Amino acid sequence: MLELRGATYRYAGYARPAIHDVDLRLADGEILGLMGANEAGKSTICLVASGLAPASIGGGLTGTLTIDAEPMAGRPVHELAARVAVGFQDPATQRSGIAATVFEEVALGPMNLGLPATETIARAREALTLLRIGDLADRDPSRLSGGQGQLVAIASLLAMRPRHIVLDEPTAQLDPEGTRLVADALRSLAATGTALLVAEHKTDLLDELCDRVAVVSEGRIVADGPTAAILGDGRLEAWGVEPPSRVRLARALAARGLDPAAAGVGA
Ligand SMILES: Nc1ncnc2c1ncn2[C@@H]1O[C@H](COP(=O)(O)OP(=O)(O)O)[C@@H](O)[C@H]1O
Ligand SMILES: [Mg+2]
Repeated sequence: MLELRGATYRYAGYARPAIHDVDLRLADGEILGLMGANEAGKSTICLVASGLAPASIGGGLTGTLTIDAEPMAGRPVHELAARVAVGFQDPATQRSGIAATVFEEVALGPMNLGLPATETIARAREALTLLRIGDLADRDPSRLSGGQGQLVAIASLLAMRPRHIVLDEPTAQLDPEGTRLVADALRSLAATGTALLVAEHKTDLLDELCDRVAVVSEGRIVADGPTAAILGDGRLEAWGVEPPSRVRLARALAARGLDPAAAGVGA
């Protein structure tokens, strides 16, 4: 369980907070989607939910981050990292820079947790298999396409088997096939009890992936609820979020006087 309460955060050197009074609760095994326009505050919420802000990047936080009933204020970065794994949009920023192969890169996480070699190898293999990138195992991690790099970055997180994962636009560089692989991997992870917070532009992906979604607008959570209810909310566009294709199609049919339900399209 990961919970933000009344979180207001200012980046270092800025007077104005980037997010205001954010409440978010992530239950074990739950996938919570985070949507919103550019600059709305999604990435900032990811940083605060993972504890990196302020522990790693400074700035000022009021309100609380609680993980598994323990307050995280003042905890060192390595302790936060053991509790929450974070993945960012740009895989290059997450590469260790010290691994010669993709396999080594993915194995670094479990190795740093101090796990025995057999367990480390088993976890790295499993993570590569889950994302169907076993064929990249011997490749140089610095010479991958954006999409391949993103899958490797996610495999590195999965290999640590964290209880909580925060992902900021994990499929930004992926084609539909890669996006599907990531969605499948995240679903199977959630089924083992891992809690996931996923900031995404792709509402079709959130539609099929998430139990719940929250909308951020101008640094505040303006909606939070069951996925179908929020994605069908008429205010979505005003919040800068494009409704998923299912909802757009249903609306287009309704505008022509056709019954979406009869056409097999649920709104
Ligand atoms: N490193 C930073 N330093 C100062 N301000 C930032 C930084 N990163 C983001 N911001 C500001 O915080 C607000 C929220 O941005 P962000 O969380 O990146 O939104 P999103 O991920 O939804 O696009 C924006 O006004 C943005 O300019
Ligand atoms: Mg962002």
